[in-house]
Amino acid sequence: MKSVNLIFVLVITSLIAFTGCNQPKPVKTIQNLKDGIIGETTAGKKYEAFAQKAREEGFDTIAKLFDAASKAESIHAANHKKVLDELGETMEDFTPEFEVKTTAENLQAAITGESYEVSTMYPQFLADAKAEKVEKAEKSFTWAFDTEKKHNDFYTAALAALNTGSERNLPVGYAVCPTCGNTYDIAGVDAKCAFCQTDKEKFITFN
Ligand SMILES: [Fe+2]
Ligand SMILES: [Fe+2]
Repeated sequence: MKSVNLIFVLVITSLIAFTGCNQPKPVKTIQNLKDGIIGETTAGKKYEAFAQKAREEGFDTIAKLFDAASKAESIHAANHKKVLDELGETMEDFTPEFEVKTTAENLQAAITGESYEVSTMYPQFLADAKAEKVEKAEKSFTWAFDTEKKHNDFYTAALAALNTGSERNLPVGYAVCPTCGNTYDIAGVDAKCAFCQTDKEKFITFN
């Protein structure tokens, strides 16, 4: 009787192991994580350069927005990279490529980039992560997707203010959640991050 039980256990264990090996690799999500890392890293470097340009042109409040968004994008890149590492995949080397123009043009370029991420890129990444059941990727993509919507609004307001000479009405500073990159007008932070519940005391401020 004991040996029958042992055989039963062995058969079940082998079946579980066999099924585990046959889990399909989440190929779309792996590629999306890589593309996301390239996009977020490039955006982070680009906004850093745009911040410097805005300071040179005397737009300090807009420079703070670029600094805050740059930080947020680097957090998104790091979060995506962590998921990729956990999937046992490695990232190829790449060089971020972008152009720096006037602050008005840079804001327009930032809006174009954020709009693409919000309308096309992240909705597709999220659909793929759901279909392939990669929950950690879904979480990382959701944090980025929700943040980019806010960046898009901040940049749109900044460009409108620049065009009407009313930058003084823009936020005086910004706060960034170190966990998910959520970006706040510093005058309106939540006690805990609305996306990930991190305490506001931990937020990185650009003031
Ligand atoms: Fe963004
Ligand atoms: Fe957060």
